[in-house]
Amino acid sequence: MKLGIVGVTGMVGRVMINLLEKRNFPLKMLYLAASKKSVGKEFFFKKKVYKVINIYDLFLKKPDIVLFSAGSYISKEWAPKFSDIGTIVIDNSSAWRMDSSKKLIIPEINASCLSKKDKIIANPNCSTIQLVMVLFPLHIEYKISRVIVSTYQSVTGTGKKALDQLYQEKNGNFSLKVYPYPIYQNVLPHCDQFTDKGYTIEEIKLMNETKKIIGDYNIAITATSVRVPVIGGHSESVNITFKKKPSINRIHEILLKTKGIIVKDSPKKNIYPMPLYAHGKDEVFVGRIREDFSFQNSINIWIVADNLRKGAATNAIQIAEFLVKKKYV
Ligand SMILES: NC(=O)c1ccc[n+]([C@@H]2O[C@H](COP(=O)([O-])OP(=O)(O)OC[C@H]3O[C@@H](n4cnc5c(N)ncnc54)[C@H](OP(=O)(O)O)[C@@H]3O)[C@@H](O)[C@H]2O)c1
Repeated sequence: MKLGIVGVTGMVGRVMINLLEKRNFPLKMLYLAASKKSVGKEFFFKKKVYKVINIYDLFLKKPDIVLFSAGSYISKEWAPKFSDIGTIVIDNSSAWRMDSSKKLIIPEINASCLSKKDKIIANPNCSTIQLVMVLFPLHIEYKISRVIVSTYQSVTGTGKKALDQLYQEKNGNFSLKVYPYPIYQNVLPHCDQFTDKGYTIEEIKLMNETKKIIGDYNIAITATSVRVPVIGGHSESVNITFKKKPSINRIHEILLKTKGIIVKDSPKKNIYPMPLYAHGKDEVFVGRIREDFSFQNSINIWIVADNLRKGAATNAIQIAEFLVKKKYV
């Protein structure tokens, strides 16, 4: 197995290399790529030193799998070139997610639809993954008709420069402008660019990707994505309306036995999910599960996950592990 990472020096790429080691992914060769300015930088993997190369040199190595995590511009240009030489691309960017010929995969939910023919596989957006991990098992039981989601997203979701902005502002330096306003001690109702319809691209991704993964385009879903000065992960307040009357006890039962989900729901004992505790973990945490008394067949729920783990690197590596297990690579 020859595996490459494109974007290894980024927020997601660094987590990927750590997870490959931690999960003991079966590797013969590892290749690490980033932009020209990072060529020659060194990373440790299983006590050996690996030097960063450029993407063209990675291409010449003909890897079996490449985890792309360098933005959609790079993925659009390079993923087809790699797939043409037989490499399987698992892409973290938004480049291929809504392409009807590409599969959008959360392994716990829909990896079984993958086959040997899939050469470019899309990893969903971070806020989508944690939402759908919870929605899907509930949809199976009760059929969802409507979802209203408000996110509270970590600065790590914007990449390493955004984290620099937060830390610099904490030290009194407000010169770096990844966001249009300070993020330290602030909240921005703004993740990614605004479209003409008044929604941001992040909100549109969340709405469209959710329907594609669940495979039900009749679900009505609306989203507001908000950036908060947090580094541990994304949080989501979600209101869900079902076609059938739900039972809160049964929802607990379903989520307790869903792989990849941890229920933390004893609010009177101050037990509920928070990014501080989701940080560095692979699971999706759920709590504040309660009936919405204002509307029939509806509940409110609070979902937290580390966007760099299950929202990105963990999900991508789980896809790669699935391909290896099925001998698709
Ligand atoms: N952050 C998240 O929570 C998250 C979650 C899901 C998906 N994603 C997606 O994952 C991707 C990476 O996000 P990130 O947060 O890790 O961003 P980041 O911290 O800004 O890192 C970007 C990475 O891309 C590399 N890169 C830039 N130009 C390149 C080029 N021409 N050739 C090769 N590599 C190049 C950078 O290398 P240099 O260091 O050399 O510049 C760096 O390694 C994005 O598509 C993002 O939308 C991110």
